[in-house]
Amino acid sequence: MIVTDATTLVDSPLNDSPLVESRLIDGKAFAEGLRGRVANAAAAFSDKAGRKAGLAVVLVGEDPASQVYVRSKGKQTVASGMASFEHKLPADATEAELLAVVEALNADPAVDGILVQLPLPAHIDEQVVIAAINPDKDVDGFHVVNVGRLATGLPGFVPCTPLGCLMLLKDRLGSLSGLDAVVIGRSNIVGKPMAQLLLAESCTVTVAHSRTKDLAEVVRRADIVVAAVGRPEMVKGDWIKPGATVIDVGINRVPAAEEGKTRLVGDVDFASVSQTAGAITPVPGGVGPMTIAVLLRNTMVAAYRNAGLAFDADAL
Ligand code: GUN
Repeated sequence: MIVTDATTLVDSPLNDSPLVESRLIDGKAFAEGLRGRVANAAAAFSDKAGRKAGLAVVLVGEDPASQVYVRSKGKQTVASGMASFEHKLPADATEAELLAVVEALNADPAVDGILVQLPLPAHIDEQVVIAAINPDKDVDGFHVVNVGRLATGLPGFVPCTPLGCLMLLKDRLGSLSGLDAVVIGRSNIVGKPMAQLLLAESCTVTVAHSRTKDLAEVVRRADIVVAAVGRPEMVKGDWIKPGATVIDVGINRVPAAEEGKTRLVGDVDFASVSQTAGAITPVPGGVGPMTIAVLLRNTMVAAYRNAGLAFDADAL
């Protein structure tokens, strides 16, 4: 998830339709609630530990979308009552320089969570950098140790965007047990961990991708569709089983009707899919706001664990 957008649902013409509105999954409101609960937990942590929980974000280069995202993370971290540490390296920083920053953060007791913003410049090996992060500070859940923990059902950090999707799904549907779920996309950040999470909830999971034959037919079987492919409005209304729950992870900027303007759309064709789906996340205002809220939640979990304090993460 790269772009967050301040546009609210109030601006949406779909708000005129009560039918569609009842089907909307309001990720913005859910994320707000989660951030409030995290802020309470952060205040309690500060009292008990005698210090604030801390999140460090490392940005290499000047990618505009990454800069927006990192700034937003810093603001929301501070607003939740945690300490935010930002480390900015130039685009030509070496892998060794970045690894030295990560090592310093691993050793810093004020830092509970470390996030290295992706993508990294091409001359730096992302896997080497992720492998250098202490798994107990890996609030992104990208380290192979956390990937393995998720795959084997052990407690660990789970990537923020798919965990946010799961929270929205459970909030809307309750138990997911026995449901057919189709995840479109197989990235390490969203598709693969999403599939693991749904499997752990006893869904029957299909992971579809660019080589999947007759994607529409595969999606038509699904009670739950998670679209994370990065293709604007690819999933169409006639692909959707009536009543299915559709989670749109895509954030694509496309030309708007008005000359020179752009607008954000998901991987789902909202206009047609919202007529068939039982519930659907809008773009913006659906999955997007969840990512940072879950990052703050993961940082809270890390802080309590690193300080040796008991914490019930499920209560968040
Ligand atoms: N780039 C896009 N999304 C993410 C994310 O969730 N974590 C990190 N570290 N980088 C990203």
